[in-house]
Amino acid sequence: MDATTTNSFASFTELLKTRRSAMKFIPNVKISKQELEDIFSLVKFAPSAFNLQHAHYAVVTDPALKEKLYEAAYRQYKVLTSSAVIIVLGDMEAYHDIGPMNEGMLNLGIIDKFEFDKTVREVNELYESRGDVFKREEAIRNASLSAMQFMLIAKDKGWDTCPMIGYDPEEVCQVLGVSEQYVPVMMITLGKEDTSKQRPRGYRKPNGEFVTYYGE
Ligand SMILES: Cc1cc2nc3c(=O)[nH]c(=O)nc-3n(C[C@H](O)[C@H](O)[C@H](O)COP(=O)(O)O)c2cc1C
Repeated sequence: MDATTTNSFASFTELLKTRRSAMKFIPNVKISKQELEDIFSLVKFAPSAFNLQHAHYAVVTDPALKEKLYEAAYRQYKVLTSSAVIIVLGDMEAYHDIGPMNEGMLNLGIIDKFEFDKTVREVNELYESRGDVFKREEAIRNASLSAMQFMLIAKDKGWDTCPMIGYDPEEVCQVLGVSEQYVPVMMITLGKEDTSKQRPRGYRKPNGEFVTYYGE
């Protein structure tokens, strides 16, 4: 089955309230490379520290590889019936790209050579001095923001998703040949949800339980 329908939300609020973590997908729904490209063309606008764009996406539609990821995800059935399994990775060495990421600004004269060199030096110093734990935290923090954006864009384009942590990260990296430079941040299954299995939305804390105001 080719999925051609797209959702259209009247407002961002409606989009937010409609997104759910899919419990079960309709099997045999294909997502095209073009549809995935359209999603990623918007994902790129997610914010990232120093615009380092730590997130990297491994997108699996190949049935044999999906089967292996299903095993690595402790046989969570939605991995098999999803249209794509996406492994969100965080690049722990992203700070090395601070120069190339800013070259365009330098060439356009938006920043001068002094500011360019200062930025490159300071970002390198920050990541090097704070060390490996910080590099890993940064990779996870920035890729997580990107992943949320991915799920909202997918929803806007008519696709359902489920973020997942129930998988063996080492096995997933081994299956996909992911280098040690990347930390697996989460798995996202994507497809068309079979809403017959959808439960009511889980309890949400009221603002008073998760927001603390300092000031009027
Ligand atoms: C980091 C993370 C990991 C999750 N892991 C799984 C998972 O392995 N399997 C699963 O079925 N759902 C998983 N979920 C989905 C949550 O259960 C779901 O987001 C939560 O119950 C709230 O439901 P809602 O997203 O429909 O509002 C995960 C969600 C997050 C954010």
